[in-house]
Amino acid sequence: MLPKLVSLIINEGIASGDTAYIITAGLKMVLIAIVMMCGGVLGGYCATKAAVSFAADLRLDVFSRLQMFSFKNIDNFSTGSLVTRLTNDITQVQNVIRMGLIMTVRSPGMLIGALCMASAINYRLAMVIAVVIPFLVLSVFLILRTAFPRFDKMQKKLDQVNTTIQENITNMRVIKSFLRRDFEIKRFYKSNHELMESTMNAMKVVIMIMPVATIAMNITTIAVVWVGGNFVMSGNMDIGDLTAFTTYIVQILMSLMMLSMIFLQCSRAAASLRRINELICEKVDLNDDNASHKELHVVSGAVEFKNVSFKYSESDNENILSDISFTIDPGEIVGIIGMTGCGKTSLVQLIPRLYDVTEGQVLVDGVDVREYDIKNLRDGVAMVLQNNVLFSGTLKENLKWGNEQATDEEIQAAAETAQVSSFVDSLSEGYDTHLEQGGINLSGGQKQRVCIARALLKNPKILILDDSTSAVDSATEAKIRLSFRTELKDTTKIIIAQRIQSVIDADKILVIDDGRIVGEGTHSQLMESSPEYRDIYYSQMDKEVSA
Ligand SMILES: Nc1ncnc2c1ncn2[C@@H]1O[C@H](COP(=O)(O)OP(=O)(O)O)[C@@H](O)[C@H]1O
Ligand SMILES: [Mg+2]
Repeated sequence: MLPKLVSLIINEGIASGDTAYIITAGLKMVLIAIVMMCGGVLGGYCATKAAVSFAADLRLDVFSRLQMFSFKNIDNFSTGSLVTRLTNDITQVQNVIRMGLIMTVRSPGMLIGALCMASAINYRLAMVIAVVIPFLVLSVFLILRTAFPRFDKMQKKLDQVNTTIQENITNMRVIKSFLRRDFEIKRFYKSNHELMESTMNAMKVVIMIMPVATIAMNITTIAVVWVGGNFVMSGNMDIGDLTAFTTYIVQILMSLMMLSMIFLQCSRAAASLRRINELICEKVDLNDDNASHKELHVVSGAVEFKNVSFKYSESDNENILSDISFTIDPGEIVGIIGMTGCGKTSLVQLIPRLYDVTEGQVLVDGVDVREYDIKNLRDGVAMVLQNNVLFSGTLKENLKWGNEQATDEEIQAAAETAQVSSFVDSLSEGYDTHLEQGGINLSGGQKQRVCIARALLKNPKILILDDSTSAVDSATEAKIRLSFRTELKDTTKIIIAQRIQSVIDADKILVIDDGRIVGEGTHSQLMESSPEYRDIYYSQMDKEVSA
């Protein structure tokens, strides 16, 4: 409407010197501008609200989805990539929705409106635009087709940068103690530089859009003024109409340009969307949908492995565990001994079904673990992982992590069994002492004891300790073992250890070598029957003697 009013002012008002007409038309223009402003603010607000709410919902959904991932699913993505997908990628989608909601309403509206108005003024002159549009559409299409794979690459490089940052921040202490600072800076420089280059590579294409559109706009304006000027001189067109017409042309091309910018944003967001989708569509390979004994709970804590073989990925050639068979009776203490990397952790992870066996069966209380409701199974099996973490919060909160309903007496009992109570008094505020992220204000051995107490609070039928007392001194460890015998009579205890001392009084010890059981029995039986066990025993004795 605005250019039309301008042309009326020129044709009618100025030509005849009618001031009143000019003022009325001018006031109409102000009114239209105010309506436009209100519409713009309202539209912008609604679009933003829709976009940020959508992003928040999507983040929550993807996050909830991540919580369902099995260990194997998590192995498929790096932490950095997960963080990028949840933050940057979702923000990209949010931006395109915000822009898109505003522009996809405004641009086509403006395009069609301006086209109608221009054709109404002079349809023959409007044909000029018909020549320009295909040219513009084709060039934008070519630009976008080139840009898309480059955006994809850019996000991958961003993943790399985030992974590097992530690893560095979590392992800052290790890096400092190993004097790896320069190496890490170099590594970061490399991924940072690659991100810069891939961004530049994508942007090189993007920056073409504006100039291409501008030149199209300028050439069209010249063509219109040329052809229209001839119409005016031959008396077929009013001068005011020509002014309005050129303004409409600019509006038409501007809205085309806006549309192409949206397509560009879309192609950028499509790369992000694909990555978000990968998380949503990642098949959770470990579920209990087909479990036939969902009502079962772990009651007595018997464990049996029947010809179990295991590998982490189907594509691996060699098994990590081969043909493992053994039984554990309820309440027994079982030690597992073997070199690092022989498969101890892999073996025990099969019991709470953190991974599924490749072949064979793992039975708990005589029932295949795949037939349990996963929640019931894991309620009955507590596992203290090899590199366990504590969360920021008080010591008590961390302990209650195992069981939110735990009473103070239960916490006290678990703390005593795990020998946490013996150092609690030395903390400034006892159980209410605030632990920093990862429990850095506790010693390694104290942290391990807290992790054990946390697992005990679950009241498990089966307790698995994966090298969980490695940093605890021998005297304290002996106390823990003693209280396991007296306080946890009915709980099956599986203890992986480096030191034979830690498992010497176990009811049964499994010796693992290269994914196979090479010895099984009590300490004295193994000393007779298993050369591997004797080797480990004597090598540790030597060390103790020389120490
Ligand atoms: N998440 C994993 N994905 C692939 N391979 C793994 C994974 N975890 C461990 N492995 C491999 O499995 C083997 C056994 O590891 P693990 O069970 O941790 O040994 P242990 O606990 O006896 O030191 C090692 O060769 C290790 O490289
Ligand atoms: Mg291990």
